[in-house]
Amino acid sequence: TKVDRINIAIDGPAGAGKSTVARQVAAQLGYVYVDTGAMYRAVTLLAQRKGIEPSQSEALRALVRDIDLQLIPTAAGQMIMLHNEDVTEQLRSREVTAQVSHYASNEHVRTKLGEMQRQLAEQKGIVMDGRDIGTHVLPNAELKVFLTASVEERARRRHRELTESNYVPLKQLEEEIAARDKLDETREIAPLIQAGDAILLDSSHMNIEEVVAYIVKLSQSKLMEV
Ligand code: DC
Repeated sequence: TKVDRINIAIDGPAGAGKSTVARQVAAQLGYVYVDTGAMYRAVTLLAQRKGIEPSQSEALRALVRDIDLQLIPTAAGQMIMLHNEDVTEQLRSREVTAQVSHYASNEHVRTKLGEMQRQLAEQKGIVMDGRDIGTHVLPNAELKVFLTASVEERARRRHRELTESNYVPLKQLEEEIAARDKLDETREIAPLIQAGDAILLDSSHMNIEEVVAYIVKLSQSKLMEV
């Protein structure tokens, strides 16, 4: 039987360009983009507001049990509503970024968000970016891409996006990115790792347009296959 929509999983380390790429791939295919990192960031923001530490596992279990998290696809990307508050911008703050890997290693947080992500993908026609999408969340995704780039290149890209008010030296960015990679790669549950059937794409010497065009082409050949 011929299908006309597939699911695409894009995993990889921080700063590889996953969210920009995934958003543009989704736009070109007319698919829905789901940024799972933003979901972990929303849990982090809520926990920080409530004074819950990453080590307080029971409190985190209760927090995610009752969480009201809505992902709303917009032309500009994905808007995140947390208990009816638009927190999209706040999720990018340094406070959240610095702590998110610690909250993301909690089993209750991962179980709950994984369930939500699988539900979102039931309809097909999803481009989902994260760390464990191809390995755990959507092991049957028709197309899996592991998008990476050298730590130096990822730090340079982040550095270029900074403005005077949020300036951070390049060296410090490199160290922060390497530290977050390490936490994500070495955690016990669903660590960051390339799925056996994922296509490795090193974007160190590619621009966004080239990466997007390549993934769109891969998805078109997948659609011919299935
Ligand atoms: O992609 P991002 O930088 O917004 O992700 C934030 C953090 O969330 C990242 O450090 C690891 C965690 N994360 C995860 O553990 N699993 C995912 N599927 C997505 C993100």
